[in-house]
Amino acid sequence: MITVEGLTRKYGSFTAVDDVSFVCQPGRVTGFLGPNGAGKTTTMRVMVGLTPPTAGRVTIGGHLYNDIPNPGRHVGVLLDASAQHAGRTGREILELGARTMGLPSTRIDEMLELVSLTPAESKRRLRNYSLGMKQRLGIAHALLGDPSVLILDEPANGLDPAGIRWMRGLLKGYAERGGTVLLSSHLLNEVELIADEMILIGHGRIVAQGDKKTLLAGATHTAATLVTALDNEALAAALSARGLTVAPAGEGLRVDAEPVEVGRTAAENSIVLVDLRAAEGALEDLFLELTSDTQREEVA
Ligand SMILES: Nc1ncnc2c1ncn2[C@@H]1O[C@H](COP(=O)(O)OP(=O)(O)O)[C@@H](O)[C@H]1O
Ligand SMILES: [Mg+2]
Repeated sequence: MITVEGLTRKYGSFTAVDDVSFVCQPGRVTGFLGPNGAGKTTTMRVMVGLTPPTAGRVTIGGHLYNDIPNPGRHVGVLLDASAQHAGRTGREILELGARTMGLPSTRIDEMLELVSLTPAESKRRLRNYSLGMKQRLGIAHALLGDPSVLILDEPANGLDPAGIRWMRGLLKGYAERGGTVLLSSHLLNEVELIADEMILIGHGRIVAQGDKKTLLAGATHTAATLVTALDNEALAAALSARGLTVAPAGEGLRVDAEPVEVGRTAAENSIVLVDLRAAEGALEDLFLELTSDTQREEVA
C-alpha cells in the first residue's frame, strides 16, 4: 500500500505539488492522471526518496522508501526509461540490477521473456533501443526483484496499441495476485484502459479521485446519450416533442436523457437507429478543462 499524506513540494515560490493525499491499495491498479506539468513525476520522485518533500510524507507499506532495506525487492520503480547508461546492453542493465539485489541470473531471462525482449534485442545497446523497447526493459527492471509495489511514470509512453494491451494484461495480472500498482499518464484513454482507480491531478492539486467506473459514470451531471438514426430529423422532432433537449453531434444527435428513453422514443415512432450509446464525458470534460487551463497559462 502507498500512502500519500498532505504532500507539498515547492520550488522557490512555485508550488509543484500542493497538499496532495491519496492511497494506493493492494490488488488495484491506480492511475495517476494529469496534463503535463501537473505534478505527477514530482509526486513519484518524492515517493521513492529522490526529491525531499516541503511538507507531508509518503510511506510504502508503512515505511519511508529510504528506510527500506534492499528496496528493489519491495518496490519496483520506473521513472525514466532512458535514465540508464546508453552504452550498456539491455541484459547488462538487468544483470547489474540482479546483482545489486542479490538475485540469481536466471531471473534476468525470466524477465526478458516476460516483457517480450528477444535474446538478440537484449544484446543491443540501450542507445539503439526504441522508446517502446526501453519501456519494456524498464518494466523488466522494475519487476526484477519480485516487488509487491510498482511505481511507473508514464510507462505507456512509446508503446504501440498492442504494447499497451500487453502492459494492461501484465499489470492487471500483477494486481490480481495482490500487487499494488501506481502508474501515471497524461492521456485519459490510456488510464481508462488500464486502471481500476483514478486520481486526477491538475496544477499540483487532486481534482478528482475514486473508482474508475464511478468517476466515468457518476461524474456525469445529467444522463446524456449519443444516438444516430436513419432519419435524424424525425428522431429529433420526436425527442423534442417529449420535452427532451436535443443537439446535433457528429453524425447524429446528443440527447439529455438515458439511452433507454431515447430508444423507447425511437421504437414508439418506428424510427430505425444505427447507433445508441451513453455519452461519457464528465471526466473527459474535467480533464480537458485542466488541460486548457494549462495551455492558457502557457500563452499568457
Ligand atoms: N527541479 C525543479 N525545479 C523547478 N521546477 C520544477 C522542478 N521539477 C519540476 N518542476 C516543475 O513542477 C511542475 C510539475 O512538474 P512534474 O511533476 O514533472 O509534472 P508532470 O510529471 O505531471 O508532467 C512543473 O511546472 C515543473 O516545471
Ligand atoms: Mg512527468
